Amino acid sequence: MKLKPLNRSYAVKMLKLQMRGTTPDQFTPRDIVSIREALDRERVVGVFSGRTLIAYSIFARASVEDCNQAEAGWNTWKFAGTVVHPSHRGQGIQKKALESHVAFAIASGIDTVMAYVHCENKASIKSIEHSGLAFFKDAFIEDKQDFRQVYKLELN
Ligand SMILES: CC(C)(COP(=O)(O)OP(=O)(O)OC[C@H]1O[C@@H](n2cnc3c(N)ncnc32)[C@H](O)[C@@H]1OP(=O)(O)O)[C@@H](O)C(=O)NCCC(=O)NCCS
Repeated sequence: MKLKPLNRSYAVKMLKLQMRGTTPDQFTPRDIVSIREALDRERVVGVFSGRTLIAYSIFARASVEDCNQAEAGWNTWKFAGTVVHPSHRGQGIQKKALESHVAFAIASGIDTVMAYVHCENKASIKSIEHSGLAFFKDAFIEDKQDFRQVYKLELN
């Protein structure tokens, strides 16, 4: 199993993985345009078994609204979506990907790392906690009309 940064050529593979491995009640899906934007602007890590993409994880600069939710300053980044292929779950793959984002955050001088998680997404909550983030508060997300739990890690 290997982690490496993904470029635009992986957009369709990421979309297929997302379609195969997620349910809308636990994960807000991205369309192909949003996936391409993430690949251009955000930190996207892929996990490979041999040459096959079995997971991806996006780490992005937080918006002003995110920073307000987390009561954090502008130098805040967030976990912005991880998908692990259903046959590879429960092997610590999300945890490894999130740890690589946290290591990047430390190396880059980022102050705060945050995550929004669906309350029912027990697997995601566990591996976010294993990656060092702590529950901060419940939040209502206006544009999605949905409740999430906010998790946070202060680095500085
Ligand atoms: C959520 C997801 C990314 C987790 O990936 P993963 O690689 O299987 O996660 P990890 O193996 O790092 O950790 C999962 C943890 O949750 C536990 N877990 C799994 N299913 C669980 C459940 N139903 N209830 C409670 N705990 C559960 C595992 O035992 C593991 O904990 P442990 O390390 O203490 O044993 C994966 O299930 C997925 O792709 N889901 C669909 C997309 C999604 O929901 N993404 C997250 C949105 S931010």
